Amino acid sequence: MLFDTHAHLNAEQFEEDLEEVVTRAQESGVENMVIVGFDRPTITRAMELVEQYDFMYASIGWHPVDAVDMTDEDLAWIEDLTSHPKVVAIGEMGLDYYWDKSPKEVQKEVFRRQIQLAKRVKLPIVIHNREATADIVDILKEEGASEVGGIMHCFSGSVEVAQECLLMNFYISLGGPVTFKNARKPKEVAEAVPLDKLLIETDCPYLAPHPYRGKRNEPSYVKLVAEQIAELKGISYEEVAAITTANAKKLFAIK
Ligand code: NI
Repeated sequence: MLFDTHAHLNAEQFEEDLEEVVTRAQESGVENMVIVGFDRPTITRAMELVEQYDFMYASIGWHPVDAVDMTDEDLAWIEDLTSHPKVVAIGEMGLDYYWDKSPKEVQKEVFRRQIQLAKRVKLPIVIHNREATADIVDILKEEGASEVGGIMHCFSGSVEVAQECLLMNFYISLGGPVTFKNARKPKEVAEAVPLDKLLIETDCPYLAPHPYRGKRNEPSYVKLVAEQIAELKGISYEEVAAITTANAKKLFAIK
């Protein structure tokens, strides 16, 4: 059993062959996945998918790159949707200092408002971080995000930052980059973080693991992430699959 905790099957890259992608995921042992929506179209599509497929759940939020576009109505709409039983988390949210579409101050405000929303509705949060680690950690602390906890999605930071996140009640989620030949930090994190604090994900269609690097990613490839973690930790693939799945179900409160 595997749990892909971060998949964008709501992306247009899967419009043509979604059924085949889902079948391959199930054949690879993927039992559950969380579909992540981060703006109006992708949230709408995520909600359609979770209605259609029993084994899919949704995380909904507003992406930091597009923070400048988020209105009060958008945030209220997201909060309304959280009453749906298959919405299990808020996000992805966070800070992205690589792209400059949204000013930092706007990103920070939109990030804070989503943490506050998550605390109101008592759901964990999914964090997107690109070149903004220090500000993310500060805001998580200032907003008391440990109350809901959540996921550091596609974590790419150091072991030290990972440990700081564990203390704030966050899980560390590893994706395709842990399989890259030249990926030093994700491999160190996979070794250092206890298995009961690790999650696995694809972030598909992005960040396909080795040997599919550069191609379209899909949930069936999450198996390669689990295999890599097993190798790095010197434990069985079955144990990695079982524990990371149990971690995800606990965090998302899925029976
Ligand atoms: Ni994502």
